[in-house]
Amino acid sequence: MKTSTQPKLVTFKYVFLSLLLTLPILLLVLRLQPQNLRWTAAAPGNIRPPTVPNITTRGIRIRPGYTSYEVYIQRQVNKTLNPRLRQVWITRDWDRKIQVFSQFFQHLKRRSLLSNDSKSLCIGARVGQEVEALRRVGVSDSVGIDLVPYPPLVVKGDFHNQPFGNDTFDFEFSNVFDHALLPDKFVAEIERTLKPRGICVLHVAVCEADG
Ligand SMILES: *[C@@H]1O[C@H](CO)[C@@H](O)[C@H](O)[C@H]1NC(C)=O
Ligand SMILES: *[C@@H]1O[C@H](CO)[C@@H](O)[C@H](O)[C@H]1NC(C)=O
Ligand SMILES: *[C@@H]1O[C@H](CO)[C@@H](O)[C@H](O)[C@H]1NC(C)=O
Ligand SMILES: *[C@@H]1O[C@H](CO)[C@@H](O)[C@H](O)[C@H]1NC(C)=O
Repeated sequence: MKTSTQPKLVTFKYVFLSLLLTLPILLLVLRLQPQNLRWTAAAPGNIRPPTVPNITTRGIRIRPGYTSYEVYIQRQVNKTLNPRLRQVWITRDWDRKIQVFSQFFQHLKRRSLLSNDSKSLCIGARVGQEVEALRRVGVSDSVGIDLVPYPPLVVKGDFHNQPFGNDTFDFEFSNVFDHALLPDKFVAEIERTLKPRGICVLHVAVCEADG
């Protein structure tokens, strides 16, 4: 029995080895695909590509099917203003989400990634549960941005074009990176507004159904 499985194993080894050897080349080819080049080359400030292809960044699928930046923004605004969802966010979800966020931020504080003195921004904060959580755990200088403001926790702002100057924040948090139309721009804006040695935490759902 053992001898009959032996050749299979050897074959498998070779297949595996050749796969291993071709992987770097494969990755290189994938990186050089015109679609990827196009997004890498997108200049900061230029946030209006004529048509928007589906984008995949290291396995994370980014917002498929939008024909223009305006349609995308309108769609996001519509979603944020949905009265039924909004009601849920500020009632049923409110305490539970704040508790979860608070625990998460406490954890970051214990790891010295966040402190009471950190000037903090929550990106795509909707009704600002994460901002409220930050304030409750003692990070008092915290604010959120979203397309629709929710004062006093959330001010109006597009994460592709943050309404803040360079080097403003010590800490930035977002769980909507996978909602970005232009992920490069999303990250570039965080890099721009984060102070040197500032901390950015992105919470990303991988392999989740489209939402
Ligand atoms: C983008 O994805 C959607 C659904 O996932 C699909 O219907 C559409 O054909 C795709 N568009 C491109 C340009 O690949
Ligand atoms: C947004 O909602 C308005 C009115 O509720 C509707 O007319 C419009 O088509 C919607 N736009 C998108 C992109 O969903
Ligand atoms: C941070 O703020 C919290 C809540 O106000 C407080 O309990 C804690 O002592 C503060 N920590 C420091 C190091 O000042
Ligand atoms: C802000 O940062 C961007 C990107 O790093 C840079 O291009 C721009 O010149 C900076 N603006 C100011 C006012 O320093």
